[in-house]
Amino acid sequence: MLKKKSNYEVAVVGATGLVGNEMMEILEERNFPVKTFHPFASPQSAGKVVQFGGKAIKVKAIEDNSFEGIDIALFSAGSGTSLKYSPIAARAGTVVIDNSSAFRMDSNVPLVVPEVNMKAAFSNRGIIANPNCSTIQLVVALYPLHKAAKIKRIVVTTFQSVSGKGKRAMDELLAQTKALLSFQELEIKEFPHQIAFNCLPQIDDFLENDYTKEEMKMVNETRKIMGDDSIQITSTTVRVPVFRCHSESVNIETEKKLTPNEARAILSASPGVIVYDDPKRNIYPLPVDHAGKDEVYVGRIREDFSVPKGLNLWIVSDNLRKGAALNAVQIAEDLIKS
Ligand code: A2P
Repeated sequence: MLKKKSNYEVAVVGATGLVGNEMMEILEERNFPVKTFHPFASPQSAGKVVQFGGKAIKVKAIEDNSFEGIDIALFSAGSGTSLKYSPIAARAGTVVIDNSSAFRMDSNVPLVVPEVNMKAAFSNRGIIANPNCSTIQLVVALYPLHKAAKIKRIVVTTFQSVSGKGKRAMDELLAQTKALLSFQELEIKEFPHQIAFNCLPQIDDFLENDYTKEEMKMVNETRKIMGDDSIQITSTTVRVPVFRCHSESVNIETEKKLTPNEARAILSASPGVIVYDDPKRNIYPLPVDHAGKDEVYVGRIREDFSVPKGLNLWIVSDNLRKGAALNAVQIAEDLIKS
């Protein structure tokens, strides 16, 4: 449990990575009350310097006693690091907000999106899980509609940017694009196929049921966060040659009929959501417009004529901000506010 203080000892684990860096920027931007900032990364980065709060701070490799005296640790260094060090940190009294998938489906670990289920975070036993990026933006937009009309079924197809796979993946898209435009051989390392000028209907490994891990994360995490296992969900996740922002084409069937105008009104009044929907003026959410923004943008809201009570939506959000770093910082903010 976090003790109330005027400022906190805060760590970012994975401070040299894309999400870690975003976490640091957001902590600064939102004036999170940081007493001392502790950046951690892999042993290869030990001694590197990061800037925080106007100071140059040396990155450290994690050791078993690294978390003594640290109040809050935001983890973004992959599942292996989280599995090993989050329990050690929690035992040292640190509240861990973990961006990896390591603990998301653990029944003892709350999986939290503040706009939906912040209450769950308060029953943490030292670890709070930050959901998958594509799940976060989905539930921020769908939970208000679920409360109003009870969603029975969700069909979602994602168009996910390469930054969801880390810095090396962004570098690969850039390198392949340059190579193709200059008629040179391209190198494929981070993705199963060429990503430049392509769409890959595979994010992460395939499971026994022929879905990918990413697709099943969306199914299972959405149910856990919305607290409703009865919602039927099917998902297709696609990697697209976009640097930042995930887009989602979403179809929902509800128990109670919702008109597109009713959905627009509900979403316009919902926290963290911006309705951006004026088809007559070609206005709808676009990754290039919303990269670097905090909110979840919803457009193309229209009736699904193929069923009696269905809606289609297009949802776009910055996967590094609301989809990862911002959601983690918001959880920390709400914890210290309470
Ligand atoms: P490093 O830069 O030293 O490899 P990204 O997702 O952008 O690739 O970033 C992953 C982050 O996780 C980086 O900060 C990386 O540090 C960090 N990381 C990777 N492995 C470890 C580890 N074993 N212990 C701590 N941090 C790690």
